[in-house]
Amino acid sequence: MKINPYQPDQSGMAYSVGTTLDRFIKSKQSDFPFASGELSQLLRDIALAAKIVNRETNRAGLANIGGAFGQTNVQGEEQQKLDVIANIRFIRALSKGGEVCAIVSEEEDAVIDLHNTSGKYVVAIDPLDGSSNIDVNISIGTIFSIYRRITPAGSPIQMEDVMQPGSKQVAAGYVLYGSSTMLVYTTGFGVNGFTYESSLGEFFLSHPNIQAPKDGDIYSINEGSEFEWNKGVQDYIRLCKEKGYSARYIGSLVADFHRNLLKGGIYIYPPTQKNPNGKLRLLYEANALAFLAEQAGALATDGKQNILSILPESLHQRTPLIIGSEKMVQTAMKYFAEEKL
Ligand code: AHG
Ligand code: MN
Ligand code: MN
Repeated sequence: MKINPYQPDQSGMAYSVGTTLDRFIKSKQSDFPFASGELSQLLRDIALAAKIVNRETNRAGLANIGGAFGQTNVQGEEQQKLDVIANIRFIRALSKGGEVCAIVSEEEDAVIDLHNTSGKYVVAIDPLDGSSNIDVNISIGTIFSIYRRITPAGSPIQMEDVMQPGSKQVAAGYVLYGSSTMLVYTTGFGVNGFTYESSLGEFFLSHPNIQAPKDGDIYSINEGSEFEWNKGVQDYIRLCKEKGYSARYIGSLVADFHRNLLKGGIYIYPPTQKNPNGKLRLLYEANALAFLAEQAGALATDGKQNILSILPESLHQRTPLIIGSEKMVQTAMKYFAEEKL
Protein backbone atom coordinates (compact mmCIF):
# COMPACT_ATOMS: atom_id res chain seq x y z
CA MET A 1 0.00 0.00 0.00
CA LYS A 2 1.28 3.44 -0.87
CA ILE A 3 1.56 5.74 2.11
CA ASN A 4 0.26 9.22 1.51
CA PRO A 5 2.19 11.62 3.73
CA TYR A 6 -0.21 14.44 2.92
CA GLN A 7 -3.25 14.94 5.10
CA PRO A 8 -5.91 17.44 4.06
CA ASP A 9 -7.16 19.76 6.82
CA GLN A 10 -10.75 20.98 7.20
CA SER A 11 -10.22 23.59 4.51
CA GLY A 12 -9.12 20.82 2.14
CA MET A 13 -5.55 22.09 2.08
CA ALA A 14 -2.90 19.39 2.17
CA TYR A 15 0.29 19.66 4.17
CA SER A 16 2.86 17.07 5.04
CA VAL A 17 4.17 15.42 8.14
CA GLY A 18 7.59 16.92 8.79
CA THR A 19 6.61 20.52 8.00
CA THR A 20 8.24 22.85 10.53
CA LEU A 21 5.96 24.66 12.97
CA ASP A 22 7.13 27.98 11.59
CA ARG A 23 6.23 27.13 8.01
CA PHE A 24 2.93 25.62 9.12
CA ILE A 25 1.95 28.73 11.10
CA LYS A 26 2.84 30.91 8.12
CA SER A 27 0.79 28.80 5.72
CA LYS A 28 -2.22 29.07 8.04
CA GLN A 29 -2.06 32.82 8.55
CA SER A 30 -4.65 33.54 5.89
CA ASP A 31 -7.25 31.51 7.87
CA PHE A 32 -7.85 34.52 10.10
CA PRO A 33 -10.20 37.32 9.29
CA PHE A 34 -7.75 39.86 10.75
CA ALA A 35 -4.61 38.24 9.41
CA SER A 36 -1.96 40.74 10.28
CA GLY A 37 0.54 38.15 11.44
CA GLU A 38 0.33 39.00 15.14
CA LEU A 39 -1.35 35.78 16.21
CA SER A 40 1.23 33.86 14.19
CA GLN A 41 4.01 35.72 15.97
CA LEU A 42 2.36 35.04 19.32
CA LEU A 43 2.29 31.30 18.60
CA ARG A 44 5.97 31.47 17.69
CA ASP A 45 6.70 33.26 20.99
CA ILE A 46 4.95 30.45 22.87
CA ALA A 47 6.93 27.84 20.94
CA LEU A 48 10.18 29.61 21.86
CA ALA A 49 9.30 29.69 25.56
CA ALA A 50 8.31 26.01 25.31
CA LYS A 51 11.78 25.16 23.99
CA ILE A 52 13.39 26.97 26.90
CA VAL A 53 11.15 25.29 29.48
CA ASN A 54 11.83 21.97 27.76
CA ARG A 55 15.55 22.57 28.28
CA GLU A 56 15.05 23.47 31.95
CA THR A 57 12.81 20.45 32.47
CA ASN A 58 15.34 18.09 30.93
CA ARG A 59 18.15 19.19 33.19
CA ALA A 60 16.05 19.79 36.32
CA GLY A 61 17.66 16.87 38.16
CA LEU A 62 21.17 18.22 37.56
CA ALA A 63 20.69 21.95 37.85
CA ASN A 64 19.29 22.13 41.37
CA ILE A 65 15.99 23.42 40.05
CA GLY A 66 13.90 20.54 41.30
CA GLY A 67 11.93 20.78 44.52
CA ALA A 68 9.94 23.45 46.27
CA PHE A 69 10.47 27.16 45.72
CA GLY A 70 9.48 27.94 49.30
CA GLN A 71 6.34 29.96 48.61
CA THR A 72 2.70 29.28 47.88
CA ASN A 73 0.70 30.74 45.00
CA VAL A 74 -2.61 32.59 45.32
CA GLN A 75 -4.43 29.27 45.56
CA GLY A 76 -2.38 28.18 48.54
CA GLU A 77 -0.49 25.57 46.52
CA GLU A 78 3.21 25.11 47.14
CA GLN A 79 5.17 26.45 44.17
CA GLN A 80 7.92 24.31 42.74
CA LYS A 81 11.06 25.96 41.39
CA LEU A 82 10.12 24.91 37.88
CA ASP A 83 6.65 26.46 38.29
CA VAL A 84 8.36 29.77 38.94
CA ILE A 85 10.93 29.34 36.15
CA ALA A 86 8.29 28.38 33.58
CA ASN A 87 6.13 31.32 34.65
CA ILE A 88 9.03 33.74 34.15
CA ARG A 89 9.98 32.23 30.78
CA PHE A 90 6.48 32.41 29.33
CA ILE A 91 5.76 35.89 30.66
CA ARG A 92 9.05 37.13 29.23
CA ALA A 93 8.35 35.59 25.81
CA LEU A 94 4.81 36.97 25.75
CA SER A 95 5.94 40.45 26.86
CA LYS A 96 8.67 40.79 24.25
CA GLY A 97 6.63 40.22 21.10
CA GLY A 98 4.26 43.19 21.45
CA GLU A 99 1.13 41.23 20.47
CA VAL A 100 -0.12 40.68 24.03
CA CYS A 101 -1.67 43.30 26.32
CA ALA A 102 -2.48 41.14 29.37
CA ILE A 103 -1.63 37.76 30.87
CA VAL A 104 -3.46 35.62 33.43
CA SER A 105 -1.19 33.02 35.01
CA GLU A 106 -1.79 30.34 37.58
CA GLU A 107 1.25 31.62 39.42
CA GLU A 108 0.19 35.29 39.60
CA ASP A 109 -2.52 36.63 41.93
CA ALA A 110 -3.66 39.40 39.60
CA VAL A 111 -3.85 40.05 35.87
CA ILE A 112 -0.47 41.09 34.48
CA ASP A 113 -1.10 44.32 32.60
CA LEU A 114 1.78 44.62 30.15
CA HIS A 115 0.88 48.31 29.57
CA ASN A 116 1.10 47.55 25.90
CA THR A 117 -2.17 49.13 24.83
CA SER A 118 -1.56 48.33 21.16
CA GLY A 119 -1.44 44.58 21.94
CA LYS A 120 -4.57 42.87 20.65
CA TYR A 121 -4.36 39.60 22.56
CA VAL A 122 -4.92 38.33 26.10
CA VAL A 123 -3.24 35.08 27.16
CA ALA A 124 -4.26 32.79 30.03
CA ILE A 125 -1.58 30.27 30.97
CA ASP A 126 -0.77 27.39 33.29
CA PRO A 127 3.01 27.62 32.81
CA LEU A 128 3.72 24.23 34.37
CA ASP A 129 0.94 21.69 34.75
CA GLY A 130 1.44 18.58 36.82
CA SER A 131 4.10 20.10 39.01
CA SER A 132 3.88 17.30 41.59
CA ASN A 133 5.42 15.11 38.87
CA ILE A 134 8.50 17.28 38.18
CA ASP A 135 10.80 15.67 40.72
CA VAL A 136 9.96 12.12 39.68
CA ASN A 137 10.59 12.45 35.97
CA ILE A 138 6.99 12.05 34.86
CA SER A 139 5.32 13.99 32.03
CA ILE A 140 4.35 17.59 32.73
CA GLY A 141 2.97 20.34 30.51
CA THR A 142 2.03 23.93 29.73
CA ILE A 143 -1.53 24.99 28.85
CA PHE A 144 -2.46 28.24 27.08
CA SER A 145 -5.54 30.09 25.85
CA ILE A 146 -5.49 33.13 23.56
CA TYR A 147 -8.29 35.71 23.30
CA ARG A 148 -8.67 38.90 21.32
CA ARG A 149 -9.23 41.85 23.63
CA ILE A 150 -12.74 43.28 23.53
CA THR A 151 -11.98 46.92 24.28
CA PRO A 152 -10.30 48.86 21.47
CA ALA A 153 -6.54 48.74 21.12
CA GLY A 154 -4.97 51.95 22.37
CA SER A 155 -7.07 52.06 25.56
CA PRO A 156 -6.13 50.52 28.92
CA ILE A 157 -7.19 46.89 29.33
CA GLN A 158 -10.36 46.13 31.30
CA MET A 159 -11.54 43.05 33.20
CA GLU A 160 -13.99 42.27 30.38
CA ASP A 161 -10.99 41.70 28.10
CA VAL A 162 -9.80 38.98 30.45
CA MET A 163 -13.04 37.42 31.68
CA GLN A 164 -14.25 35.99 28.39
CA PRO A 165 -15.96 32.61 28.01
CA GLY A 166 -13.94 29.82 26.40
CA SER A 167 -16.07 30.06 23.26
CA LYS A 168 -14.24 33.31 22.50
CA GLN A 169 -10.79 31.72 22.33
CA VAL A 170 -9.01 32.39 19.05
CA ALA A 171 -6.32 29.82 19.75
CA ALA A 172 -5.39 27.37 22.48
CA GLY A 173 -2.95 24.59 23.04
CA TYR A 174 -0.59 22.74 25.26
CA VAL A 175 3.00 21.64 25.40
CA LEU A 176 3.65 18.15 26.71
CA TYR A 177 7.10 17.55 28.12
CA GLY A 178 6.92 13.77 27.93
CA SER A 179 8.79 10.87 26.39
CA SER A 180 9.01 13.36 23.56
CA THR A 181 8.10 17.03 23.74
CA MET A 182 5.03 18.05 21.75
CA LEU A 183 3.16 21.24 20.99
CA VAL A 184 -0.51 20.69 20.17
CA TYR A 185 -2.67 23.65 19.22
CA THR A 186 -5.79 24.85 17.47
CA THR A 187 -6.85 28.14 15.96
CA GLY A 188 -10.36 26.86 15.37
CA PHE A 189 -9.50 24.98 12.18
CA GLY A 190 -8.75 21.55 13.57
CA VAL A 191 -6.02 20.36 15.93
CA ASN A 192 -2.42 19.77 14.92
CA GLY A 193 0.45 18.27 16.90
CA PHE A 194 4.15 18.99 16.51
CA THR A 195 7.03 16.97 17.92
CA TYR A 196 10.20 18.69 19.08
CA GLU A 197 13.47 17.58 17.54
CA SER A 198 15.92 18.86 20.11
CA SER A 199 19.10 18.43 18.07
CA LEU A 200 17.61 20.74 15.42
CA GLY A 201 15.74 22.98 17.85
CA GLU A 202 12.55 22.72 15.78
CA PHE A 203 9.00 21.50 16.20
CA PHE A 204 7.86 19.37 13.23
CA LEU A 205 4.31 18.46 12.29
CA SER A 206 3.83 14.88 13.45
CA HIS A 207 0.09 14.61 14.20
CA PRO A 208 -1.88 16.48 11.50
CA ASN A 209 -5.58 17.07 11.93
CA ILE A 210 -6.04 15.07 15.14
CA GLN A 211 -9.45 13.40 15.43
CA ALA A 212 -10.40 12.01 18.84
CA PRO A 213 -11.96 8.53 18.79
CA LYS A 214 -15.72 8.84 19.31
CA ASP A 215 -15.61 6.17 22.00
CA GLY A 216 -12.90 4.72 24.19
CA ASP A 217 -12.03 2.32 26.97
CA ILE A 218 -9.80 4.38 29.27
CA TYR A 219 -11.02 6.29 32.34
CA SER A 220 -8.85 8.79 34.19
CA ILE A 221 -9.81 9.98 37.66
CA ASN A 222 -8.07 10.18 41.03
CA GLU A 223 -9.68 7.15 42.67
CA GLY A 224 -8.13 8.02 46.01
CA SER A 225 -10.98 10.52 46.39
CA GLU A 226 -13.73 7.98 45.70
CA PHE A 227 -15.40 8.42 49.09
CA GLU A 228 -15.58 12.17 48.45
CA TRP A 229 -17.48 11.82 45.15
CA ASN A 230 -21.20 12.05 44.82
CA LYS A 231 -23.18 8.96 43.87
CA GLY A 232 -23.41 9.83 40.16
CA VAL A 233 -19.62 9.82 39.82
CA GLN A 234 -19.30 6.64 41.88
CA ASP A 235 -21.90 4.88 39.74
CA TYR A 236 -20.30 5.97 36.47
CA ILE A 237 -16.86 4.75 37.55
CA ARG A 238 -18.42 1.45 38.61
CA LEU A 239 -19.85 1.21 35.08
CA CYS A 240 -16.36 1.79 33.63
CA LYS A 241 -15.12 -1.14 35.70
CA GLU A 242 -18.04 -3.36 34.73
CA LYS A 243 -17.24 -2.65 31.09
CA GLY A 244 -13.61 -3.64 31.74
CA TYR A 245 -12.14 -0.24 30.90
CA SER A 246 -8.52 0.51 31.84
CA ALA A 247 -7.74 3.00 34.60
CA ARG A 248 -4.97 5.44 33.63
CA TYR A 249 -4.19 8.48 35.77
CA ILE A 250 -0.91 10.32 35.57
CA GLY A 251 -1.83 13.34 37.67
CA SER A 252 -0.68 15.75 34.96
CA LEU A 253 -3.83 16.93 33.21
CA VAL A 254 -1.99 17.63 29.95
CA ALA A 255 -0.59 14.10 29.80
CA ASP A 256 -3.87 12.43 30.74
CA PHE A 257 -5.77 14.55 28.21
CA HIS A 258 -3.23 13.93 25.44
CA ARG A 259 -3.36 10.16 25.87
CA ASN A 260 -7.15 10.10 25.88
CA LEU A 261 -7.31 12.43 22.88
CA LEU A 262 -5.22 10.04 20.81
CA LYS A 263 -6.44 6.71 22.17
CA GLY A 264 -10.02 7.44 23.24
CA GLY A 265 -10.97 7.88 26.88
CA ILE A 266 -12.50 10.11 29.51
CA TYR A 267 -10.84 12.35 32.12
CA ILE A 268 -12.87 13.41 35.12
CA TYR A 269 -12.01 15.82 37.92
CA PRO A 270 -15.29 15.92 39.83
CA PRO A 271 -16.37 18.02 42.81
CA THR A 272 -15.02 16.51 46.02
CA GLN A 273 -15.52 17.37 49.68
CA LYS A 274 -12.12 19.09 49.63
CA ASN A 275 -12.78 20.86 46.31
CA PRO A 276 -16.56 21.34 45.95
CA ASN A 277 -16.09 23.08 42.57
CA GLY A 278 -13.51 20.58 41.39
CA LYS A 279 -9.82 21.41 41.42
CA LEU A 280 -9.03 22.50 37.89
CA ARG A 281 -9.05 26.13 36.84
CA LEU A 282 -11.45 27.37 34.18
CA LEU A 283 -9.35 30.11 32.60
CA TYR A 284 -6.03 28.38 32.08
CA GLU A 285 -6.73 24.65 32.28
CA ALA A 286 -10.28 23.66 31.34
CA ASN A 287 -11.02 26.20 28.58
CA ALA A 288 -7.98 25.45 26.42
CA LEU A 289 -8.49 21.70 26.61
CA ALA A 290 -12.22 22.07 25.97
CA PHE A 291 -11.52 24.08 22.79
CA LEU A 292 -9.01 21.46 21.61
CA ALA A 293 -11.45 18.67 22.47
CA GLU A 294 -14.26 20.29 20.51
CA GLN A 295 -11.98 20.88 17.53
CA ALA A 296 -10.93 17.22 17.60
CA GLY A 297 -14.52 15.95 17.82
CA ALA A 298 -14.50 15.28 21.58
CA LEU A 299 -16.53 16.92 24.39
CA ALA A 300 -15.97 18.87 27.60
CA THR A 301 -18.54 19.71 30.27
CA ASP A 302 -18.70 20.66 33.92
CA GLY A 303 -21.59 18.20 34.32
CA LYS A 304 -24.23 20.83 33.66
CA GLN A 305 -23.02 22.85 30.73
CA ASN A 306 -20.40 22.97 28.03
CA ILE A 307 -17.13 24.26 29.51
CA LEU A 308 -16.82 26.76 26.66
CA SER A 309 -20.06 28.52 27.56
CA ILE A 310 -19.18 29.27 31.20
CA LEU A 311 -18.86 33.00 31.84
CA PRO A 312 -15.94 33.41 34.25
CA GLU A 313 -16.53 35.29 37.47
CA SER A 314 -13.03 35.25 38.90
CA LEU A 315 -9.52 34.78 37.60
CA HIS A 316 -8.67 31.57 39.42
CA GLN A 317 -12.16 30.09 39.33
CA ARG A 318 -12.32 26.31 39.53
CA THR A 319 -14.63 24.02 37.62
CA PRO A 320 -15.48 20.34 37.59
CA LEU A 321 -14.18 18.85 34.33
CA ILE A 322 -15.44 15.87 32.36
CA ILE A 323 -13.59 15.72 29.06
CA GLY A 324 -12.89 13.16 26.39
CA SER A 325 -14.46 10.89 23.80
CA GLU A 326 -17.95 12.02 22.84
CA LYS A 327 -19.85 8.84 23.69
CA MET A 328 -18.12 8.40 27.04
CA VAL A 329 -18.81 11.99 28.10
CA GLN A 330 -22.45 11.70 27.03
CA THR A 331 -22.88 8.52 29.10
CA ALA A 332 -21.11 10.07 32.10
CA MET A 333 -23.38 13.10 31.92
CA LYS A 334 -26.49 10.94 32.20
CA TYR A 335 -25.14 9.56 35.47
CA PHE A 336 -24.03 12.93 36.78
CA ALA A 337 -27.26 14.70 35.80
CA GLU A 338 -29.13 12.62 38.37
CA GLU A 339 -26.86 13.94 41.07
CA LYS A 340 -26.88 17.62 40.07
CA LEU A 341 -23.13 18.22 40.23
P1 AHG B 1 -0.87 22.17 38.58
O1 AHG B 1 0.40 21.40 38.69
O2 AHG B 1 -0.83 23.16 37.43
O3 AHG B 1 -1.32 22.80 39.86
O4 AHG B 1 -2.05 21.18 38.12
C1 AHG B 1 -2.22 19.95 38.77
C2 AHG B 1 -3.57 19.42 38.40
C3 AHG B 1 -3.63 18.60 37.13
O5 AHG B 1 -2.53 18.65 36.31
C4 AHG B 1 -3.84 17.20 37.61
O6 AHG B 1 -4.64 16.48 36.73
C5 AHG B 1 -4.47 17.38 38.94
O7 AHG B 1 -3.99 18.59 39.44
C6 AHG B 1 -4.13 16.28 39.87
O8 AHG B 1 -4.79 16.49 41.06
P2 AHG B 1 -4.93 15.32 42.17
O9 AHG B 1 -3.58 15.12 42.74
O10 AHG B 1 -5.91 15.88 43.16
O11 AHG B 1 -5.46 14.11 41.45
MN1 MN C 1 -2.35 22.65 36.10
MN1 MN D 1 0.56 24.73 37.09
